[in-house]
Amino acid sequence: MPDAHEKKSSTSKEATQDDAQKPEEEKPRLDPVRKAKLLQMLERLHMQTGDHLPPEVMKALKAGTALEEVAKAHQFWSTQPVPQEDIPVNVVPGPFQEDISQDKVRSIPYPLPKEFEWVDIDVDDDIQLEGLYTLLNLNYNEDSDGMFRFDYSTSFLRWALKPPGFQKSWHFGVRATVSKKLVAFISAIPMQMRVLKDIKPMVEINFLCIHKKLRLKRLAPVLIKEVTRRSHLQGIFQAIYTAGTRIPTPVASCPYFHRTLNPKKLVEVGFTALPRGMSLARRIANDAVPATPPLKIRLMEEKDTPRVRELYNQFQNANTKLAPVYDFDENIKHWLLPIDDVLWTYVVDDSNGNVSDFVSFYRLDSSVLKHEVHKKINAAYLYYCGTTAQEQGEQALQARLQDLIQSALVMAKQLGFDVFNGIDCALNSAAFSKLKFAQGDGSLNYYLFNWQCPALERSDIGLIMV
Ligand SMILES: CC(C)(COP(=O)(O)OP(=O)(O)OC[C@H]1O[C@@H](n2cnc3c(N)ncnc32)[C@H](O)[C@@H]1OP(=O)(O)O)[C@@H](O)C(=O)NCCC(=O)NCCS
Repeated sequence: MPDAHEKKSSTSKEATQDDAQKPEEEKPRLDPVRKAKLLQMLERLHMQTGDHLPPEVMKALKAGTALEEVAKAHQFWSTQPVPQEDIPVNVVPGPFQEDISQDKVRSIPYPLPKEFEWVDIDVDDDIQLEGLYTLLNLNYNEDSDGMFRFDYSTSFLRWALKPPGFQKSWHFGVRATVSKKLVAFISAIPMQMRVLKDIKPMVEINFLCIHKKLRLKRLAPVLIKEVTRRSHLQGIFQAIYTAGTRIPTPVASCPYFHRTLNPKKLVEVGFTALPRGMSLARRIANDAVPATPPLKIRLMEEKDTPRVRELYNQFQNANTKLAPVYDFDENIKHWLLPIDDVLWTYVVDDSNGNVSDFVSFYRLDSSVLKHEVHKKINAAYLYYCGTTAQEQGEQALQARLQDLIQSALVMAKQLGFDVFNGIDCALNSAAFSKLKFAQGDGSLNYYLFNWQCPALERSDIGLIMV
């Protein structure tokens, strides 16, 4: 199946048998000595063969370029305060670089070629928001086969970019000086992140996008340096970000999983393949979900906020090592209170007003790029959940998570979603396998900027980046 557009995996689809049978010409052909050297080098760079290598490396591998040429890979990231190699397990958590005082922060934006200029994007302005939507809609993450591309709605973008404490100057991009057309974008939002025992203010970097015509011109490093400068100006020196691409060096990596809800359409658009020997009718029967959720749920209301915050923090503290900390109700209100056509959070309520659990998902559709009839996949993504079941032990916790995710699947089906995606993080794994999720062809790599800590397991990850 496709990765969820490997963004974050930009767009993952179900992994298929075909993935193992890619045409020969797509694979690098190298003589054994060169290959051994390259593999050695890749080992040094701590990448796994074929695992979303950066474009420069892929290009060099395909061209059989000299080793020195290939070694230039990561000319940007090798200069940044990030781990350059696999992280030793005994590393002591802390920054690579100490904080600097504001007067030491570069005061003016990094220079751009004269054809381009920096532009702040005000997402409250419909026209500017539409410009951002168009850039992303046409240029953001695609799956590795170029079949699907994320299609973030304007209301989604507003939600994602305007949490409590957001800074307007952290939503910015590059536009053409003459036409004023937006050609690149990057954003940061403020977060309190718990990483193991430390709680740090960080920025979460998202929506890095460069117009297709301006790719491979080293514009991304300029955007990244500029967002770093703007964070430093506000006294924040750590960041977290995710990517399907593997760059130096992930703190964790979580595969995408997909639960088919509309197998006919997903097979037609090539998101899902029918296993050999399985008819569509059998697949449809196999993917059916119950008509009603296993738990008695209702949509979260504003009055549930304090309880949901409690459940969220308890769940994250007990089960994960890297997660946002929501100390205030306004954070939970922003991130979990349902938003029309963007976000759904359901609570389990015993009718006496006691909320014992919650589960949430958001809508992130994908444009279908190469199909005559279907133009969009309606995709729900598993977001956060919380439960008191852990007080009754591991087994009860797993059973309850399964019921919560199953309830979300039922609601997503009723809402007309074609697929329900999620990443294998926190405690999702067991529920995914019981509920017929299939692994995608992408993984989401998690990165920390200017913060080193031991490598984490996927089950340690609590942060879901939208
Ligand atoms: C990701 C994207 C902005 C990179 O732009 P590009 O034109 O390919 O790359 P540039 O020539 O400008 O810069 C290359 C550098 O950026 C790094 N880079 C590429 N993708 C990156 C990412 N997602 N995050 C951080 N750095 C990234 C490369 O590793 C390289 O640095 P290196 O030499 O140290 O390895 C562009 O491919 C894009 O818009 N893709 C679609 C959207 C997307 O995938 N966004 C990422 C969100 S997860």
